[in-house]
Order: sequence, then structure tokens, then C-alpha cells
Amino acid sequence: MTLLKAVRGTRDLLPPETELWNRVEATARRVFTRYNFGEIRTPIFEDTQLFARSVGEETDIVSKEMYTWEDRARAQSEKSQSLTLRPENTAGVVRAYIERKLGEAGLLRKLFYIGPQFRRERPQKGRYRQFWQIGAEVIGPPSAGSESPLRDAEVLEMLASFLDELGITGWTLVLNSVGSSTDRPRYIAALREALKDKAPQMCADCQRRAETNPLRVLDCKVPEDQPIIEALPRIADHLDEDSKAHFAAVLAALDACGVPYTINPRLVRGLDYYTRTTFEFTHGGLGAQNALLGGGRYDGLSEMLGGPRAPGIGFALGLDRLILTLQASQSDAAPNLADAFIAPLGEAMNAPALTLARELRREGLRIELGDGAFRLKKSFEIGNKLARSIILLGEDEHRSGILTVKNFAAGEQVRVPRADVARHLRP
Ligand code: HAM
Repeated sequence: MTLLKAVRGTRDLLPPETELWNRVEATARRVFTRYNFGEIRTPIFEDTQLFARSVGEETDIVSKEMYTWEDRARAQSEKSQSLTLRPENTAGVVRAYIERKLGEAGLLRKLFYIGPQFRRERPQKGRYRQFWQIGAEVIGPPSAGSESPLRDAEVLEMLASFLDELGITGWTLVLNSVGSSTDRPRYIAALREALKDKAPQMCADCQRRAETNPLRVLDCKVPEDQPIIEALPRIADHLDEDSKAHFAAVLAALDACGVPYTINPRLVRGLDYYTRTTFEFTHGGLGAQNALLGGGRYDGLSEMLGGPRAPGIGFALGLDRLILTLQASQSDAAPNLADAFIAPLGEAMNAPALTLARELRREGLRIELGDGAFRLKKSFEIGNKLARSIILLGEDEHRSGILTVKNFAAGEQVRVPRADVARHLRP
């Protein structure tokens, strides 16, 4: 029989690595809460149209990478529906904002999410088909200040603080402005004009994009196309005064609070909903897939989905990539040992050992419970692998209430009254 394996591009996350994942997620919750964000959990699959309309039909994500299926009707009253595993979470958040009328209170909504996303990409280091994102969105009616450059700067400052708090150094914040919905048609017209001559020398995808969605040409990764792309018109030269002033205000606020950045006029990002500020945080330790996170403004997205005017800004961080970065910097991390291994001496001691384990666990200690069927030598061997100390529980110890505790690193064995064991074990 052939053995079944995890599907290509997916993987199991195991302890002790999952402890690191939990620590990162807990830090995100703690930091984002300080900025008054609340958690949203949207469904893992949505109507395919949601992604087609927001991320964009011509993007790589929608045209090549989505896991889509036709969900058959189960009753005559139902229609079949095209469904898709979410490739990203911004579309789902904005759908929920519209559907649940989250803008009605006239306030900004500040929502974060942590969860898996799915894209059928070619797997490699830092790129998976099921991957996790930690993201956040700030969205609301213009009267709540949702368009203000202060919001952009606050989100970027929050990200810098989050990475600092995790101890991640060596990140670079790369910024650009892709202009407003009025700048964009002017720029696209200029791009189309320039591509008339150039597109025939480019890859097949670019030739198609030059017709259907010229902005996507700028995402092309084909090396031979890069010199041509470098010479194309720049969006920075097509911004109107409002967009220029908005971008300048974001930069001024970042300067004021001391968050360093570099500007990359080619940063357009691979999703169609962006307007004005776009950004990525990159990290040198990641290799080819060096984007730790990406995000930007999407001032027209709610309207594109049939909702009210609700400008917004947000980001999503690749949790898998963040973990790779942390693991690279903490390779000498000590294994996570239990505080103690309890060795019942004989099977009659199993039940008392379970009671002792229960007491110590309720004190908050991490306890591994052995088995009275094990010989003493075996208990010591296992205990030494799993825990910092071993507690021996035989008839004598049980009766007298004085336990024998040995710390493996110190090598010393002491007798400790049962009531003091928790205090004795505490690191
Ligand atoms: P994105 O740039 O497509 O943006 O993805 C954000 C981050 O997710 C990337 O920077 C990367 O770290 C991670 N990521 C993407 N694809 C993969 C993959 N196949 N394997 C591992 N990690 C991956 C978005 O998703 C937008 N929704 C971000 C946003 C939120 N914009 C505004 N609000």
C-alpha cells in the first residue's frame, strides 16, 4: 500500500516549533491590542467572485493560484456556487465590513486576523500552498479619518514595534505610492503607450497583461524583462498634488517617530485593490522569498464590492517566513523541557502519581508522567530526555509524604516534603 503524505506545499507543524508559533501569535495579539485592534475570523472559503472582483482577474493569484471548486446544489432550492479557499484575507474582511454594516457607527474599524491562506504556487523555501498570515485592517467612512496619512504611519509604526518586540532585526521597510483612482488611469495610459513598442520583446504573460492590465507588467519576475521594466514610466511622475501631499505626510510622520524606510518607485504589489501607499517589509535572511509582509491602502475596495465609501489600509505578514527568520536567529535555543518527570515505582503507585501530577500541574508546572511498569533505569533515561528533574514516588515516599527529587543538570538528589515540591521545582 502506498503511504499517504501531506499534499505538496503543505506541512505539519510540530512541537517544539509550534511553541514558537504560539509565542509569535501571542505577541501579535498583545501588541495589536495596545493599538486598540480587535480580532476578526472570517470563513476560510468564500464566493469566488469576491476574489475576482477585489484582488483582480488578471493577477497571478486569481488567474493561476486559487483553489476553486463548483459546490454542487444539495437541494432543488439551492443553486450550485463557485467557491474558493481564501488566498488572502483583506477581501473577506471588507466583505464582512459591508455585509455586517460595520461602518454604521461612523467610527474606524480596526480588525486583525491570524489564519491559513491558500495559493497554488510553486513551493520553495518560504513559499507554501497553505501558509499563515497575521494581518490587520483599518477601515471606515472618510468622516472617521480613514483616509488620513496618520493611519498609514500608525500601522507602519505598529509593525516596526511588533518586529522589535519579537527581537527581529535587519528588516527594511520599502514604501511607494501607487496613486489614487484618478491618478491611476493617467498612469495606465502612459504605460500602455510605452508598452506598445516594448511588449512584443517581453514574455508571453507580459504581452497579454500589456493589453488587459498593464500595471501587472511591473510584477513580472522574468529576468530578461527587467531592463525593459526599469525603463517604463514611473508612477511617481503621474501622481496628482493630493496624492503627492498624502505620501509626503506619511513620510513626515514616519520621520517624526523614527521609523526608517526606503522608497522603491517600482513597488506596485501583486493585487489590484491598492491605492496610494503600498509597502513591504523585507528581510535579507529569507533568500528569494524575502517579503516578510506586505500591505497598503485600498480606498476604493469597498465600493468595488458594492459597499459604501470606506477607505482603508492594512497589511498581512507571512507567519511561516517570520518563523524562518526567528529560527535562523535563535538556532541555539534550549529545548523546552518539562519541569519534572514523575516516576511511579511499581504499578501500585500509578494512581498516587497521577494525583501528584494533578497537584503540580494545578500549580502551573509542566509535568510528564511516567508509568509504574517501567524499570527505574528506563524512567531515568526517559526523564532525562524530557524534563529538568525526576520525582521518585514509591510506597515509602507516598506514606511519609517526603519525595525524592533529582535535578539532572545539578546531579543532586534531595528529599523534599510534598507541600514544598512545587516551590522546589519552579525555575
Ligand atoms: P501579499 O503580499 O499577497 O498581500 O501577502 C502578504 C504576505 O504573505 C507576503 O509578504 C508573504 O510574507 C506572505 N505570503 C504570501 N504568499 C505566500 C506563500 N505562498 N507562502 C508563504 N507566505 C506567503 C496580501 O495578502 C494582502 N491581503 C495584504 C494586505 C492586507 N493589504 C492590505 N491589507
